[in-house]
Amino acid sequence: MKTYSRIIGTGSYLPSNTVTNYDLEKTVDTTHDWIFSRSGISERHVAADGELCSDLACQASLKAIEAAGIAADEIDLIIVATTSPDMPFPSTACILQDKLGIRNGSPAFDVQAVCGGFVYALNTADMYIRGGQAKTVLVVGAEVLSRMLDWNDRTTCVLFGDGAGAVILRASEEPGIIGAKLHADGRHREMLKADPNIAMDGQAVFKFAVKVLSDVVEELLEDKKLSGTDIDWLVPHQANIRIIEATARKLGLPMDKVVQTVALHGNTSAASIPLALDTAVRAGDIKPGQNILIEAVGGGFTWGAVLIKW
Ligand SMILES: CC(C)(COP(=O)(O)OP(=O)(O)OC[C@H]1O[C@@H](n2cnc3c(N)ncnc32)[C@H](O)[C@@H]1OP(=O)(O)O)[C@@H](O)C(=O)NCCC(=O)NCCS
Repeated sequence: MKTYSRIIGTGSYLPSNTVTNYDLEKTVDTTHDWIFSRSGISERHVAADGELCSDLACQASLKAIEAAGIAADEIDLIIVATTSPDMPFPSTACILQDKLGIRNGSPAFDVQAVCGGFVYALNTADMYIRGGQAKTVLVVGAEVLSRMLDWNDRTTCVLFGDGAGAVILRASEEPGIIGAKLHADGRHREMLKADPNIAMDGQAVFKFAVKVLSDVVEELLEDKKLSGTDIDWLVPHQANIRIIEATARKLGLPMDKVVQTVALHGNTSAASIPLALDTAVRAGDIKPGQNILIEAVGGGFTWGAVLIKW
């Protein structure tokens, strides 16, 4: 009997402090209209002083655990996708394990693929489940990118936000994750990096993102003998509404089949997909039996797509 990984619960968390484009107008030379027309972002959440990546991850995880109806101790693997961990080590996953009170000694580690992180982490978790090494996995995307921004640099500080999203994956005989494609190309690492603040060649990233996302969703759908019309929901990485629209167009998907949270969350890097997923699940939009396509691209560069039968 074939084993699949099914998502049995989702959760998310946003820091209470929101920063609107109008707030940013007061601190950098920008306007709401410029930011909104170029990116689709109108506000983002920013973590409070002392609020750490693991704190956001913990809040999102508790909601996912509750939604899944499991006990935290049933989790036998934790993977946290983050590029803004609490500290270089220990991993945010180990800190999260402790904060959740999990004492079963199961493995926990971080995955670093920047905005591609959640797709990488989900694929890794799926491998553990299909390989029989785990049954119940907590996969989290959590970021406090606000700490890596130069708040005087209008080309970057207007684009990013903080937040966390989590899913519980469980081994099942029913289809769940049905396909994935991951890629990386380190030659493009200078285009988007944090050294130590986030710096980016926006136009180059934009073109690269549109190209590789279109390619990877096509590659995945072709491999599964599916087309855009088989997709019920596209849950893209929420970096920029124009990049999202380009991918939807390529798939022939109307925008009402695309989960869109970028306006209120900004780009929350590895957290953006699980945040969007949880928003759509709790709104009752994503329903059992539907085909969900997720995709992301991030610094490195890394990119990938995952296909899920919900
Ligand atoms: C960043 C991005 C929104 C910029 O939009 P753009 O249309 O490419 O704008 P440009 O970078 O060409 O800048 C145009 C002008 O606006 C200015 N500008 C930049 N940021 C600004 C801001 N926040 N407010 C007002 N003006 C701004 C620039 O200085 C430039 O001025 P100039 O023409 O006098 O030199 C766009 O390139 C983008 O979305 N890139 C992808 C970013 C992304 O998604 N990254 C994460 C991937 S995971």
